[in-house]
Amino acid sequence: MQPRAVVAGVGHYLPKRVVPNSEFEKTLDTTDEWIRTRSGIERRHFADDKETTSFMATTAAKSALAMAGVSADDVDAIIVATSTADLTFPSAATMVQSALGMTRGFAFDVQAVCAGFVFALSNANALIVSGQAHRVLVIGAETFSRIMDWTDRSTCVLFGDGAGAVLLEAQDGTGTSDDRGILATDLNSDGRYRDLLYVDGGVSTQTTGHLRMQGNQVFRHAVEKLAATAEASLAKAGLTNADVDWIVPHQANIRIIKGTAKKMGIPMDRVVVTVQDHGNTSAASIPLALSIGCARGQIKSGDVVVTEAIGGGLAWGSVVLRW
Ligand code: UT7
Repeated sequence: MQPRAVVAGVGHYLPKRVVPNSEFEKTLDTTDEWIRTRSGIERRHFADDKETTSFMATTAAKSALAMAGVSADDVDAIIVATSTADLTFPSAATMVQSALGMTRGFAFDVQAVCAGFVFALSNANALIVSGQAHRVLVIGAETFSRIMDWTDRSTCVLFGDGAGAVLLEAQDGTGTSDDRGILATDLNSDGRYRDLLYVDGGVSTQTTGHLRMQGNQVFRHAVEKLAATAEASLAKAGLTNADVDWIVPHQANIRIIKGTAKKMGIPMDRVVVTVQDHGNTSAASIPLALSIGCARGQIKSGDVVVTEAIGGGLAWGSVVLRW
């Protein structure tokens, strides 16, 4: 017997306001055509003042709990992956905890920027496998619109807001790759590349700051590192690329998504793609894509799913699970 962290429910929330690429043509030297062809993005959602990170995270979490048929007090831990929490502290996770009416367990945030959800899933898996938690809510939620420099066409057209949530539940497995649940994880970071993608402000500099990115440099690292981490996780799980039913990648750029799939020899009809509708929602992008992939009927029970992401740090990683 081996405990496995099995997905029992998923949910998501997207802000009401949808902004098409054409909006940016009014204020910036850019075109819908450039944004579509260079990134694959067609529109994104931007949060209003009430749609805070914790509000969106809570709404996504409620959907995941409802799908699983589980009440908030049956959850032992909440992990929120975010770089855009409502307040410097307390954590967004404790805000979600109180908004769900959950009076027990523990809650904390994970900050690994666009790779945050993969890092949070891996931490949640460790809590479940080590017997410290039976049910863990893992949420990715972001309001990146709050840290955009609206005069910088090379970044502000790329990002969006939203949240996705997954409820993980301990179930007994056999220890083989036939088990449902998380089969392997692979986490990496290399702080030598911290200047490629960062926010130029923070608490100790007394500004919120704006996102700065050397996009083409990040791009160069992305395809190579994402394929490598996905294959490392698959190898740890005793699986190969041919066993993959779905890649659910971080949704930053369709060219990165296609390049990674091609490098892995996996056709695009086995990749869940939402970047055209959401833009890059950082830590929210994978749980959003998981939730939407289920709603579309793409991801089904028993499927082998590989998630992979890279972002500021650089930090990157992957998780292989059987749905
Ligand atoms: O989620 C975290 C990880 N982040 C990512 O994965 C993002 C990775 N990077 C990318 O997705 C791509 O690098 C971008 C979409 C950001 C840019 O695409 P690119 O093909 O790498 O373009 P580039 O940065 O090399 O820029 C090409 C040209 C430049 O003009 P010059 O120097 O060639 O004259 C830019 O100034 O495109 C220009 N440009 C734009 N033109 C019109 C940059 N942004 C825009 C824009 N509209 N919005």
